[in-house]
Amino acid sequence: MITLRGAYSEVSKGKPCREARAHRTALRVGIASIIRRFPTHFHHFRSVNPLLSKLQPYPFEKLRHLFGRVTPNAKFSAISLGIGEPKHPTPLFIQQALADNLSGLATYPTTAGTDQIRRAICRWLERRYQLPTLNPATDALPVNGSREALFALAQVVIDPAAKAVVVCPNPFYQIYEGAAFLAGAEPFFVNSDPARNFAPDFSSVPADVWPRVQLLYICTPGNPTGAVLTLDDWRALFALSDKYGFVIAADECYSEIYFGDHPPLGAMQAANQLGRGYQRLVAFSSLSKRSNVPGMRSGFVAGDADILKQFLLYRTYHGSAMSPSVQAASIAAWNDEDHVVKNREKYIRKFKQVTPLLAEVLDVALPDAGFYLWAKVDKLINISDAEYAKQLYAEYHVTVLPGSYVAREAHGWNPGASRIRMALVAEVDECLEAAQRIVEFTRKLAA
Ligand SMILES: Cc1ncc(COP(=O)(O)O)c(C=O)c1O
Repeated sequence: MITLRGAYSEVSKGKPCREARAHRTALRVGIASIIRRFPTHFHHFRSVNPLLSKLQPYPFEKLRHLFGRVTPNAKFSAISLGIGEPKHPTPLFIQQALADNLSGLATYPTTAGTDQIRRAICRWLERRYQLPTLNPATDALPVNGSREALFALAQVVIDPAAKAVVVCPNPFYQIYEGAAFLAGAEPFFVNSDPARNFAPDFSSVPADVWPRVQLLYICTPGNPTGAVLTLDDWRALFALSDKYGFVIAADECYSEIYFGDHPPLGAMQAANQLGRGYQRLVAFSSLSKRSNVPGMRSGFVAGDADILKQFLLYRTYHGSAMSPSVQAASIAAWNDEDHVVKNREKYIRKFKQVTPLLAEVLDVALPDAGFYLWAKVDKLINISDAEYAKQLYAEYHVTVLPGSYVAREAHGWNPGASRIRMALVAEVDECLEAAQRIVEFTRKLAA
């Protein structure tokens, strides 16, 4: 086979230097245009980042594949508890703030955002987590939803030369894994432990792994388990970070949807209560769930000012600045708590009605927080999570996500196996209807 390098040296043979270079350029341009015209014949010439091949299909792609040839029972309307997309209406005052600031579309935003949005974020953090005054110039940055920021942080803090390891909870939000791979690191999964209210047990990480850990993702409240880290969990985690020098990325986008009397403890709040600074700690939050604006793409990162400085540098090149119109609407949203209280009350009412119904046939309990139920399906029957989801879809037109699609086989088991994730995002009547169908379906299977 003729390689590009071989072709270039053939063309250049015996030619004076400048002439050879001109021939090589002409050849390169010619070859490139042929490749562009006949891409399928020359796919071996196209170079892509080999790390991309490590990425797994997203859970919803797996679900589409699972349901591929299934025709759902036409007797029922479709109800999806599959995707964790908030469905409560966006508050009108946020829509109005966006509409009132459309003139912002005429200007390029700065990557750091305006002083006003950073101030609104810092004041919200101080109120919500009882923090001492934060400096808006250094301690927080707006991001286009927490997802892109969770991914981007790995690209900033990972040194791939050092056989880096990224610790991820399991089950988990798949972005952590992809971020680790594309930063040149390997993920190490820590299984969530049902006996510890689903908190990952970090003491299970082997001693020879910790020195290679550069980043640890923690999701609290967790998706899908709803588990919230306690102050003791944080004490142990900070001690490990201080000993081994890794960065903690605390994903807190479900922090405002909770079912107990006390709001979930935040990462920065825990650091503050333990009399520690924010070194090596970056917290992520979002308006998507708190304010029902997943389409607005608005969140923030806050914490270690040195890391945020590097993060800002990275983002300047990556080009991820928030639209000025979205910044204005986000300020309105962060400054208002009434709509958050009403939104939470809706979830509380919904979860209190739906959970006991489902508990008749599934192993499920009200979580600490979040908007998922993480249920075990083999209480009455012996069935896999994927088979359960497929048959439920076929017979009752209800979509749930198989637990093994949001977890990995690690240390001999998959903590998502025989579990399903149900996102109770729709209005209460629809969720109740889905729960009734699930009860009927499971009883029928078990009969
Ligand atoms: C655990 C977790 N983190 C982060 C995100 C990203 O949310 P957003 O990008 O809308 O802020 C999601 C979205 O579903 C999530 O479930």
